[in-house]
Amino acid sequence: MQLQLSRLILSCVLASFVGVSAALPIDGNALGNVIARTAEPPLLPLARRAMSGRQPRHLRSDYPSKVKRDGPDLGGIATFNGDPQPIRGPLGDTFLSASNHAIDEQNIDNLAVPPTDAGTCYTELEMEHVTLAHEALRCRLAKAFSAVEIRISANDDRELHWHRMAEWGYVLGGSGRITAVDEDGRTFAADIHGPTNTSDATIHYFPPGVPHSIQALDDGLELLLVFTYGDFDEVGTTFTVADWLARTPLEVVAKNLGVNVSVLAGIPQKDPVLFKSTVPPPADISQEIVTSPAGTVPMPFFFDLNTQNRTVAPGGGGWLKVQDSATNFPVATEFASVLINIEPSSMLELHWHPTDEWIYILSGQGRATAYAGATNARTFDFQEGDTAVFPMGYGHYMENISPTEPLTFLALFNAPRFVDFSATQLLALSPPPLVADMLNISTETVTSLPKEKQFIVA
Ligand SMILES: *[C@@H]1O[C@H](CO)[C@@H](O)[C@H](O)[C@H]1NC(C)=O
Ligand SMILES: *[C@@H]1O[C@H](CO)[C@@H](O)[C@H](O)[C@H]1NC(C)=O
Ligand SMILES: *[C@@H]1O[C@H](CO)[C@@H](O)[C@H](O)[C@H]1NC(C)=O
Ligand SMILES: *[C@@H]1O[C@H](CO)[C@@H](O)[C@H](O)[C@H]1NC(C)=O
Repeated sequence: MQLQLSRLILSCVLASFVGVSAALPIDGNALGNVIARTAEPPLLPLARRAMSGRQPRHLRSDYPSKVKRDGPDLGGIATFNGDPQPIRGPLGDTFLSASNHAIDEQNIDNLAVPPTDAGTCYTELEMEHVTLAHEALRCRLAKAFSAVEIRISANDDRELHWHRMAEWGYVLGGSGRITAVDEDGRTFAADIHGPTNTSDATIHYFPPGVPHSIQALDDGLELLLVFTYGDFDEVGTTFTVADWLARTPLEVVAKNLGVNVSVLAGIPQKDPVLFKSTVPPPADISQEIVTSPAGTVPMPFFFDLNTQNRTVAPGGGGWLKVQDSATNFPVATEFASVLINIEPSSMLELHWHPTDEWIYILSGQGRATAYAGATNARTFDFQEGDTAVFPMGYGHYMENISPTEPLTFLALFNAPRFVDFSATQLLALSPPPLVADMLNISTETVTSLPKEKQFIVA
Protein backbone atom coordinates (compact mmCIF):
# COMPACT_ATOMS: atom_id res chain seq x y z
CA MET A 1 0.00 0.00 0.00
CA GLN A 2 1.32 3.37 -0.98
CA LEU A 3 0.45 6.65 0.60
CA GLN A 4 1.09 9.81 -1.25
CA LEU A 5 0.08 13.16 0.10
CA SER A 6 0.31 16.35 -1.79
CA ARG A 7 -1.24 19.46 -0.42
CA LEU A 8 -1.29 22.91 -1.80
CA ILE A 9 -2.76 25.73 0.16
CA LEU A 10 -2.91 29.11 -1.42
CA SER A 11 -3.74 31.65 1.19
CA CYS A 12 -4.03 35.35 1.74
CA VAL A 13 -2.69 38.02 -0.47
CA LEU A 14 -2.47 41.71 0.01
CA ALA A 15 -0.54 42.84 -2.99
CA SER A 16 1.40 46.02 -3.03
CA PHE A 17 1.55 48.01 -6.20
CA VAL A 18 2.40 51.55 -5.29
CA GLY A 19 3.41 53.38 -8.43
CA VAL A 20 3.78 50.09 -10.21
CA SER A 21 3.43 49.41 -13.89
CA ALA A 22 2.31 46.20 -15.52
CA ALA A 23 4.36 43.74 -17.54
CA LEU A 24 2.63 43.55 -20.85
CA PRO A 25 3.19 42.49 -24.42
CA ILE A 26 2.15 45.88 -25.77
CA ASP A 27 5.01 46.92 -28.01
CA GLY A 28 3.77 49.50 -30.47
CA ASN A 29 0.34 49.41 -28.90
CA ALA A 30 -1.27 52.76 -28.16
CA LEU A 31 -2.78 51.33 -25.01
CA GLY A 32 0.73 51.23 -23.63
CA ASN A 33 0.46 54.95 -23.10
CA VAL A 34 -1.97 54.43 -20.25
CA ILE A 35 0.63 52.49 -18.29
CA ALA A 36 2.52 54.70 -15.88
CA ARG A 37 6.14 53.71 -15.51
CA THR A 38 8.36 54.35 -12.55
CA ALA A 39 12.13 54.51 -12.43
CA GLU A 40 12.67 52.06 -9.59
CA PRO A 41 10.01 49.38 -9.43
CA PRO A 42 9.66 47.78 -6.01
CA LEU A 43 10.18 44.07 -5.50
CA LEU A 44 7.23 41.73 -5.60
CA PRO A 45 6.29 40.27 -2.21
CA LEU A 46 7.69 36.83 -2.96
CA ALA A 47 11.13 38.08 -3.82
CA ARG A 48 11.24 40.01 -0.57
CA ARG A 49 10.29 36.96 1.39
CA ALA A 50 12.78 34.82 -0.50
CA MET A 51 15.48 37.28 0.43
CA SER A 52 14.47 37.14 4.08
CA GLY A 53 14.70 33.35 3.75
CA ARG A 54 11.77 32.84 6.06
CA GLN A 55 8.37 31.95 4.70
CA PRO A 56 7.26 29.10 2.46
CA ARG A 57 7.33 30.36 -1.07
CA HIS A 58 3.89 29.12 -2.07
CA LEU A 59 2.02 30.88 0.68
CA ARG A 60 1.35 34.53 0.15
CA SER A 61 0.69 36.26 3.44
CA ASP A 62 -0.76 39.66 4.24
CA TYR A 63 1.17 42.46 2.70
CA PRO A 64 0.93 45.70 4.58
CA SER A 65 0.79 48.26 1.83
CA LYS A 66 -1.82 50.42 0.23
CA VAL A 67 -3.08 49.26 -3.12
CA LYS A 68 -2.71 51.80 -5.86
CA ARG A 69 -2.81 51.16 -9.57
CA ASP A 70 -1.44 53.67 -12.03
CA GLY A 71 -2.54 51.74 -15.08
CA PRO A 72 -4.66 48.76 -16.03
CA ASP A 73 -3.40 45.21 -16.48
CA LEU A 74 -3.79 44.50 -20.19
CA GLY A 75 -3.80 40.76 -19.65
CA GLY A 76 -0.14 39.99 -20.04
CA ILE A 77 0.91 36.67 -18.57
CA ALA A 78 4.43 36.42 -17.24
CA THR A 79 6.61 33.94 -19.12
CA PHE A 80 9.85 32.47 -17.88
CA ASN A 81 11.15 30.12 -20.58
CA GLY A 82 11.38 27.26 -18.13
CA ASP A 83 12.92 29.32 -15.32
CA PRO A 84 10.01 30.71 -13.28
CA GLN A 85 10.96 33.72 -11.17
CA PRO A 86 8.89 36.23 -9.19
CA ILE A 87 9.26 38.78 -11.96
CA ARG A 88 6.61 40.44 -14.10
CA GLY A 89 8.06 42.77 -16.70
CA PRO A 90 10.04 45.49 -14.94
CA LEU A 91 8.89 44.32 -11.47
CA GLY A 92 10.26 41.83 -9.00
CA ASP A 93 13.57 40.04 -8.73
CA THR A 94 15.03 36.55 -8.98
CA PHE A 95 14.93 33.92 -6.26
CA LEU A 96 18.07 33.82 -4.14
CA SER A 97 17.35 30.26 -3.03
CA ALA A 98 15.83 27.10 -4.44
CA SER A 99 12.18 26.84 -5.42
CA ASN A 100 9.76 24.16 -6.56
CA HIS A 101 9.70 25.15 -10.20
CA ALA A 102 7.03 22.62 -11.16
CA ILE A 103 4.60 24.30 -8.76
CA ASP A 104 5.81 27.78 -9.71
CA GLU A 105 5.20 27.11 -13.39
CA GLN A 106 1.69 25.88 -12.75
CA ASN A 107 0.85 28.97 -10.70
CA ILE A 108 2.51 31.85 -12.48
CA ASP A 109 -0.07 34.32 -11.20
CA ASN A 110 0.76 33.26 -7.65
CA LEU A 111 4.48 33.67 -8.25
CA ALA A 112 4.43 36.93 -10.21
CA VAL A 113 1.33 38.73 -9.03
CA PRO A 114 -0.69 40.62 -11.67
CA PRO A 115 -1.40 44.26 -10.71
CA THR A 116 -5.16 43.62 -10.71
CA ASP A 117 -4.78 41.42 -7.61
CA ALA A 118 -5.48 43.38 -4.45
CA GLY A 119 -6.67 43.19 -0.88
CA THR A 120 -7.15 40.30 1.48
CA CYS A 121 -8.85 37.73 -0.68
CA TYR A 122 -8.69 34.36 1.01
CA THR A 123 -9.11 31.24 -1.06
CA GLU A 124 -8.15 27.74 -0.20
CA LEU A 125 -7.24 25.03 -2.61
CA GLU A 126 -6.53 21.73 -0.98
CA MET A 127 -5.85 18.43 -2.66
CA GLU A 128 -5.13 15.12 -1.07
CA HIS A 129 -3.97 12.20 -3.15
CA VAL A 130 -4.40 8.93 -1.31
CA THR A 131 -3.39 5.72 -3.03
CA LEU A 132 -4.99 2.72 -1.37
CA ALA A 133 -5.43 -0.87 -2.48
CA HIS A 134 -8.12 0.23 -4.91
CA GLU A 135 -6.55 3.59 -5.57
CA ALA A 136 -8.87 6.21 -4.22
CA LEU A 137 -8.08 9.89 -4.59
CA ARG A 138 -9.77 12.49 -2.50
CA CYS A 139 -9.95 16.19 -2.67
CA ARG A 140 -11.84 18.39 -0.29
CA LEU A 141 -12.33 22.10 -0.21
CA ALA A 142 -14.71 24.92 0.61
CA LYS A 143 -17.65 24.95 2.96
CA ALA A 144 -20.48 24.16 0.57
CA PHE A 145 -18.87 21.27 -1.34
CA SER A 146 -16.61 18.29 -0.90
CA ALA A 147 -15.37 16.02 -3.64
CA VAL A 148 -13.89 12.56 -3.95
CA GLU A 149 -12.18 11.01 -6.92
CA ILE A 150 -12.57 7.27 -6.63
CA ARG A 151 -10.90 4.51 -8.69
CA ILE A 152 -12.59 1.12 -8.60
CA SER A 153 -10.77 -1.84 -10.16
CA ALA A 154 -12.51 -4.02 -12.76
CA ASN A 155 -15.70 -5.63 -11.41
CA ASP A 156 -15.12 -4.45 -7.84
CA ASP A 157 -17.85 -2.78 -5.79
CA ARG A 158 -18.41 0.21 -3.55
CA GLU A 159 -20.58 -1.02 -0.70
CA LEU A 160 -24.21 0.07 -0.25
CA HIS A 161 -24.26 3.47 1.40
CA TRP A 162 -26.01 6.83 1.64
CA HIS A 163 -25.13 10.38 2.65
CA ARG A 164 -26.64 13.21 4.63
CA MET A 165 -26.18 15.36 1.51
CA ALA A 166 -26.84 15.07 -2.22
CA GLU A 167 -24.28 13.28 -4.39
CA TRP A 168 -23.42 14.27 -7.95
CA GLY A 169 -21.15 12.08 -10.08
CA TYR A 170 -19.25 12.33 -13.35
CA VAL A 171 -17.38 9.40 -14.90
CA LEU A 172 -13.79 10.41 -15.61
CA GLY A 173 -12.86 7.10 -17.21
CA GLY A 174 -13.94 3.50 -17.73
CA SER A 175 -17.45 2.29 -17.06
CA GLY A 176 -19.62 1.12 -14.19
CA ARG A 177 -23.06 0.28 -12.93
CA ILE A 178 -25.03 2.18 -10.29
CA THR A 179 -28.09 0.96 -8.40
CA ALA A 180 -30.38 2.53 -5.80
CA VAL A 181 -33.56 1.85 -3.85
CA ASP A 182 -35.78 4.78 -2.94
CA GLU A 183 -37.96 5.38 0.15
CA ASP A 184 -40.92 3.56 -1.45
CA GLY A 185 -38.88 0.49 -2.37
CA ARG A 186 -38.68 1.53 -6.03
CA THR A 187 -35.47 0.47 -7.76
CA PHE A 188 -33.02 2.16 -10.08
CA ALA A 189 -30.07 0.82 -12.10
CA ALA A 190 -28.02 2.33 -14.90
CA ASP A 191 -24.73 1.79 -16.66
CA ILE A 192 -22.39 4.77 -16.57
CA HIS A 193 -19.39 5.55 -18.75
CA GLY A 194 -16.58 8.02 -19.16
CA PRO A 195 -15.92 10.26 -22.15
CA THR A 196 -14.37 8.89 -25.33
CA ASN A 197 -12.95 10.72 -28.33
CA THR A 198 -16.42 10.91 -29.84
CA SER A 199 -18.83 10.91 -26.90
CA ASP A 200 -19.40 12.69 -23.59
CA ALA A 201 -19.61 11.02 -20.19
CA THR A 202 -22.61 10.25 -18.00
CA ILE A 203 -23.54 12.05 -14.80
CA HIS A 204 -25.68 10.87 -11.88
CA TYR A 205 -27.42 12.37 -8.86
CA PHE A 206 -28.56 10.73 -5.64
CA PRO A 207 -30.78 12.78 -3.31
CA PRO A 208 -29.78 12.97 0.39
CA GLY A 209 -30.47 9.69 2.18
CA VAL A 210 -31.05 7.55 -0.95
CA PRO A 211 -28.91 4.38 -0.61
CA HIS A 212 -26.89 3.32 -3.62
CA SER A 213 -24.14 1.02 -4.91
CA ILE A 214 -21.42 1.56 -7.48
CA GLN A 215 -19.70 -1.24 -9.35
CA ALA A 216 -16.92 -1.09 -11.92
CA LEU A 217 -17.47 -2.98 -15.16
CA ASP A 218 -14.64 -4.96 -16.77
CA ASP A 219 -12.66 -1.89 -17.91
CA GLY A 220 -12.58 -0.42 -14.39
CA LEU A 221 -14.06 2.89 -13.26
CA GLU A 222 -12.76 6.30 -12.25
CA LEU A 223 -15.43 8.56 -10.87
CA LEU A 224 -15.60 12.14 -9.66
CA LEU A 225 -18.15 12.55 -6.86
CA VAL A 226 -19.24 15.92 -5.47
CA PHE A 227 -21.33 16.50 -2.35
CA THR A 228 -23.33 19.44 -1.02
CA TYR A 229 -21.47 19.54 2.29
CA GLY A 230 -17.93 20.71 3.02
CA ASP A 231 -16.58 17.91 5.24
CA PHE A 232 -16.91 14.49 3.66
CA ASP A 233 -15.10 12.79 6.56
CA GLU A 234 -17.19 14.26 9.34
CA VAL A 235 -19.04 11.75 11.51
CA GLY A 236 -22.70 11.74 10.50
CA THR A 237 -21.99 12.32 6.81
CA THR A 238 -21.78 8.94 5.10
CA PHE A 239 -23.46 5.72 6.25
CA THR A 240 -22.62 2.21 5.06
CA VAL A 241 -24.74 -0.90 5.61
CA ALA A 242 -21.97 -3.40 6.40
CA ASP A 243 -20.41 -1.02 8.93
CA TRP A 244 -23.81 -0.45 10.54
CA LEU A 245 -24.53 -4.17 10.94
CA ALA A 246 -21.09 -4.71 12.51
CA ARG A 247 -21.96 -1.99 15.05
CA THR A 248 -25.29 -3.63 15.98
CA PRO A 249 -25.72 -6.65 18.34
CA LEU A 250 -25.79 -9.72 16.09
CA GLU A 251 -28.98 -11.12 17.70
CA VAL A 252 -30.68 -7.83 16.86
CA VAL A 253 -29.51 -8.06 13.25
CA ALA A 254 -30.70 -11.70 13.02
CA LYS A 255 -34.06 -10.85 14.56
CA ASN A 256 -34.43 -7.84 12.27
CA LEU A 257 -33.70 -9.86 9.13
CA GLY A 258 -35.66 -12.89 10.35
CA VAL A 259 -32.71 -15.24 9.95
CA ASN A 260 -30.80 -17.64 12.20
CA VAL A 261 -27.92 -15.83 13.90
CA SER A 262 -25.58 -18.59 12.73
CA VAL A 263 -25.88 -17.53 9.07
CA LEU A 264 -24.46 -14.14 10.00
CA ALA A 265 -21.32 -15.49 11.69
CA GLY A 266 -19.04 -14.31 8.87
CA ILE A 267 -20.26 -10.74 8.27
CA PRO A 268 -17.35 -8.28 8.12
CA GLN A 269 -16.30 -6.64 11.35
CA LYS A 270 -14.36 -3.97 9.47
CA ASP A 271 -16.04 -1.57 7.03
CA PRO A 272 -15.12 -2.98 3.59
CA VAL A 273 -15.58 0.33 1.69
CA LEU A 274 -14.55 -1.36 -1.59
CA PHE A 275 -14.68 -5.12 -2.13
CA LYS A 276 -14.07 -7.80 -4.76
CA SER A 277 -17.02 -9.32 -6.59
CA THR A 278 -17.09 -13.12 -6.74
CA VAL A 279 -19.26 -13.10 -9.87
CA PRO A 280 -18.58 -10.45 -12.55
CA PRO A 281 -21.63 -8.32 -13.35
CA PRO A 282 -23.66 -9.57 -16.34
CA ALA A 283 -23.16 -7.53 -19.50
CA ASP A 284 -26.93 -7.08 -19.78
CA ILE A 285 -28.02 -4.84 -16.92
CA SER A 286 -31.60 -6.18 -17.00
CA GLN A 287 -30.31 -9.55 -15.75
CA GLU A 288 -29.13 -7.89 -12.57
CA ILE A 289 -32.17 -5.84 -11.63
CA VAL A 290 -34.22 -7.17 -8.73
CA THR A 291 -37.89 -6.75 -9.57
CA SER A 292 -39.62 -4.66 -6.93
CA PRO A 293 -43.37 -4.89 -6.29
CA ALA A 294 -43.23 -1.07 -6.14
CA GLY A 295 -41.63 -0.77 -9.58
CA THR A 296 -38.84 1.59 -10.58
CA VAL A 297 -38.06 5.18 -9.52
CA PRO A 298 -40.19 7.75 -11.38
CA MET A 299 -37.31 10.18 -12.02
CA PRO A 300 -34.01 8.61 -13.10
CA PHE A 301 -30.92 9.38 -11.02
CA PHE A 302 -28.88 9.38 -14.21
CA PHE A 303 -28.23 11.64 -17.21
CA ASP A 304 -26.29 10.71 -20.34
CA LEU A 305 -24.62 13.87 -21.65
CA ASN A 306 -24.64 12.29 -25.13
CA THR A 307 -28.41 12.72 -25.30
CA GLN A 308 -28.00 16.48 -24.99
CA ASN A 309 -26.95 18.76 -27.85
CA ARG A 310 -24.19 21.26 -27.32
CA THR A 311 -25.36 24.86 -26.95
CA VAL A 312 -23.00 26.97 -29.00
CA ALA A 313 -22.29 30.17 -27.06
CA PRO A 314 -23.84 33.26 -28.72
CA GLY A 315 -20.49 34.99 -28.27
CA GLY A 316 -18.71 32.20 -30.16
CA GLY A 317 -15.59 30.60 -28.73
CA GLY A 318 -17.10 27.42 -27.35
CA TRP A 319 -20.15 25.48 -26.17
CA LEU A 320 -22.01 24.48 -23.02
CA LYS A 321 -24.28 21.71 -21.80
CA VAL A 322 -26.41 22.75 -18.82
CA GLN A 323 -28.23 20.25 -16.59
CA ASP A 324 -30.59 21.23 -13.79
CA SER A 325 -33.84 20.17 -12.18
CA ALA A 326 -35.73 23.10 -13.72
CA THR A 327 -35.07 21.99 -17.30
CA ASN A 328 -33.77 18.51 -18.05
CA PHE A 329 -32.68 16.60 -14.91
CA PRO A 330 -35.75 16.85 -12.63
CA VAL A 331 -34.45 14.74 -9.73
CA ALA A 332 -31.29 16.89 -9.27
CA THR A 333 -32.90 19.56 -7.09
CA GLU A 334 -29.71 20.31 -5.13
CA PHE A 335 -27.20 20.39 -8.00
CA ALA A 336 -27.12 22.33 -11.24
CA SER A 337 -24.21 21.47 -13.51
CA VAL A 338 -22.57 22.73 -16.66
CA LEU A 339 -20.04 21.07 -18.97
CA ILE A 340 -18.12 23.90 -20.62
CA ASN A 341 -15.74 23.82 -23.56
CA ILE A 342 -13.76 26.97 -24.32
CA GLU A 343 -11.82 27.18 -27.57
CA PRO A 344 -8.13 28.21 -27.55
CA SER A 345 -7.67 31.86 -26.47
CA SER A 346 -11.44 32.30 -25.91
CA MET A 347 -12.98 33.20 -22.57
CA LEU A 348 -15.98 32.58 -20.36
CA GLU A 349 -17.30 36.13 -19.97
CA LEU A 350 -17.23 38.18 -16.73
CA HIS A 351 -20.16 36.94 -14.65
CA TRP A 352 -21.36 35.88 -11.20
CA HIS A 353 -23.86 33.53 -9.56
CA PRO A 354 -26.28 33.78 -6.63
CA THR A 355 -24.82 30.53 -5.19
CA ASP A 356 -21.36 29.08 -4.67
CA GLU A 357 -19.73 27.50 -7.71
CA TRP A 358 -17.39 24.51 -7.63
CA ILE A 359 -15.28 23.77 -10.71
CA TYR A 360 -13.17 20.84 -11.88
CA ILE A 361 -10.79 21.19 -14.83
CA LEU A 362 -11.11 18.17 -17.15
CA SER A 363 -8.48 19.31 -19.66
CA GLY A 364 -6.55 22.35 -20.82
CA GLN A 365 -5.17 25.44 -19.14
CA GLY A 366 -7.23 28.25 -17.64
CA ARG A 367 -6.81 31.52 -15.84
CA ALA A 368 -9.39 33.26 -13.68
CA THR A 369 -9.48 36.30 -11.46
CA ALA A 370 -11.90 36.10 -8.54
CA TYR A 371 -13.27 39.51 -7.55
CA ALA A 372 -14.42 39.46 -3.92
CA GLY A 373 -15.80 43.01 -3.64
CA ALA A 374 -14.31 46.01 -1.84
CA THR A 375 -11.08 46.13 -3.88
CA ASN A 376 -10.23 42.46 -3.26
CA ALA A 377 -9.18 40.27 -6.16
CA ARG A 378 -6.94 37.30 -6.78
CA THR A 379 -5.80 35.56 -9.97
CA PHE A 380 -5.40 31.78 -10.32
CA ASP A 381 -4.01 29.46 -12.97
CA PHE A 382 -5.57 26.07 -13.60
CA GLN A 383 -4.69 22.84 -15.34
CA GLU A 384 -6.40 19.46 -15.58
CA GLY A 385 -7.35 17.91 -12.26
CA ASP A 386 -7.50 21.28 -10.48
CA THR A 387 -10.54 22.34 -8.53
CA ALA A 388 -11.68 25.71 -7.22
CA VAL A 389 -14.61 27.49 -5.65
CA PHE A 390 -16.02 30.86 -6.62
CA PRO A 391 -18.08 31.85 -3.59
CA MET A 392 -21.58 33.28 -4.02
CA GLY A 393 -21.56 36.63 -5.79
CA TYR A 394 -17.82 36.71 -6.60
CA GLY A 395 -17.24 38.19 -10.07
CA HIS A 396 -15.03 36.06 -12.30
CA TYR A 397 -14.11 35.00 -15.83
CA MET A 398 -12.29 31.90 -17.10
CA GLU A 399 -9.86 32.38 -19.93
CA ASN A 400 -8.37 29.57 -22.01
CA ILE A 401 -4.71 30.61 -22.00
CA SER A 402 -3.63 27.90 -24.41
CA PRO A 403 -3.38 29.01 -28.06
CA THR A 404 -3.88 25.43 -29.28
CA GLU A 405 -5.78 23.26 -26.78
CA PRO A 406 -9.46 23.54 -25.74
CA LEU A 407 -10.25 24.13 -22.05
CA THR A 408 -12.94 21.80 -20.73
CA PHE A 409 -14.34 21.94 -17.23
CA LEU A 410 -17.30 21.14 -15.02
CA ALA A 411 -19.09 23.84 -13.03
CA LEU A 412 -21.44 22.81 -10.21
CA PHE A 413 -23.91 24.88 -8.21
CA ASN A 414 -25.83 23.91 -5.10
CA ALA A 415 -29.07 25.10 -6.67
CA PRO A 416 -32.13 23.70 -8.47
CA ARG A 417 -31.55 25.93 -11.48
CA PHE A 418 -28.44 27.19 -13.28
CA VAL A 419 -28.36 30.98 -12.87
CA ASP A 420 -25.68 33.41 -13.92
CA PHE A 421 -25.46 37.17 -14.32
CA SER A 422 -23.47 38.70 -17.16
CA ALA A 423 -21.43 41.88 -16.64
CA THR A 424 -21.68 42.78 -20.35
CA GLN A 425 -25.44 42.33 -20.33
CA LEU A 426 -25.71 44.49 -17.20
CA LEU A 427 -23.76 47.30 -18.87
CA ALA A 428 -25.66 46.94 -22.17
CA LEU A 429 -29.11 47.02 -20.55
CA SER A 430 -28.51 49.86 -18.06
CA PRO A 431 -29.08 53.53 -19.04
CA PRO A 432 -26.21 54.36 -21.45
CA PRO A 433 -25.47 57.85 -20.00
CA LEU A 434 -25.17 56.31 -16.53
CA VAL A 435 -22.76 53.62 -17.74
CA ALA A 436 -20.82 56.14 -19.86
CA ASP A 437 -20.32 58.47 -16.88
CA MET A 438 -19.57 55.63 -14.48
CA LEU A 439 -16.81 54.15 -16.65
CA ASN A 440 -15.65 57.33 -18.39
CA ILE A 441 -16.32 55.79 -21.80
CA SER A 442 -18.41 57.08 -24.71
CA THR A 443 -22.15 56.31 -25.01
CA GLU A 444 -21.33 54.87 -28.46
CA THR A 445 -19.16 52.28 -26.77
CA VAL A 446 -21.95 51.50 -24.30
CA THR A 447 -24.64 51.13 -26.98
CA SER A 448 -22.35 48.86 -29.03
CA LEU A 449 -22.30 46.24 -26.23
CA PRO A 450 -24.28 43.03 -26.95
CA LYS A 451 -27.62 42.86 -25.14
CA GLU A 452 -27.80 39.09 -25.47
CA LYS A 453 -25.83 37.02 -22.97
CA GLN A 454 -22.61 35.86 -24.63
CA PHE A 455 -21.50 33.14 -22.14
CA ILE A 456 -18.21 32.66 -24.01
CA VAL A 457 -16.41 35.29 -26.08
CA ALA A 458 -14.08 34.31 -28.90
C1 LIG B 1 -8.44 9.20 -29.07
O1 LIG B 1 -7.64 10.34 -29.35
C2 LIG B 1 -6.29 10.21 -28.94
C3 LIG B 1 -5.60 11.52 -29.16
O2 LIG B 1 -5.98 12.11 -30.35
C4 LIG B 1 -5.67 9.05 -29.72
O3 LIG B 1 -4.32 8.87 -29.31
C5 LIG B 1 -6.45 7.77 -29.47
O4 LIG B 1 -5.93 6.72 -30.27
C6 LIG B 1 -7.91 7.96 -29.78
N1 LIG B 1 -8.64 6.78 -29.37
C7 LIG B 1 -9.52 6.18 -30.16
C8 LIG B 1 -10.19 4.98 -29.56
O5 LIG B 1 -9.79 6.58 -31.27
C1 LIG C 1 -29.84 -21.96 14.24
O1 LIG C 1 -28.77 -22.65 13.62
C2 LIG C 1 -28.10 -23.53 14.47
C3 LIG C 1 -26.86 -24.06 13.74
O2 LIG C 1 -27.20 -24.44 12.42
C4 LIG C 1 -29.05 -24.65 14.91
O3 LIG C 1 -28.39 -25.53 15.81
C5 LIG C 1 -30.26 -24.00 15.56
O4 LIG C 1 -31.22 -24.99 15.88
C6 LIG C 1 -30.90 -22.97 14.71
N1 LIG C 1 -31.93 -22.28 15.43
C7 LIG C 1 -33.15 -22.06 14.96
C8 LIG C 1 -34.09 -21.33 15.85
O5 LIG C 1 -33.49 -22.47 13.86
C1 LIG D 1 -30.14 17.73 -31.31
O1 LIG D 1 -30.02 18.39 -32.53
C2 LIG D 1 -30.54 17.66 -33.65
C3 LIG D 1 -30.20 18.42 -34.91
O2 LIG D 1 -30.58 19.75 -34.81
C4 LIG D 1 -32.02 17.45 -33.45
O3 LIG D 1 -32.55 16.69 -34.51
C5 LIG D 1 -32.27 16.73 -32.15
O4 LIG D 1 -33.65 16.61 -31.88
C6 LIG D 1 -31.61 17.45 -30.99
N1 LIG D 1 -31.69 16.64 -29.78
C7 LIG D 1 -32.08 17.12 -28.61
C8 LIG D 1 -32.10 16.15 -27.49
O5 LIG D 1 -32.42 18.28 -28.45
C1 LIG E 1 -11.54 60.08 -18.67
O1 LIG E 1 -10.70 59.54 -19.65
C2 LIG E 1 -9.88 60.47 -20.27
C3 LIG E 1 -9.04 59.76 -21.35
O2 LIG E 1 -9.87 58.98 -22.13
C4 LIG E 1 -8.97 61.13 -19.26
O3 LIG E 1 -8.23 62.16 -19.88
C5 LIG E 1 -9.78 61.71 -18.13
O4 LIG E 1 -8.93 62.18 -17.11
C6 LIG E 1 -10.70 60.66 -17.57
N1 LIG E 1 -11.55 61.26 -16.56
C7 LIG E 1 -11.59 60.82 -15.31
C8 LIG E 1 -12.56 61.51 -14.41
O5 LIG E 1 -10.92 59.90 -14.93
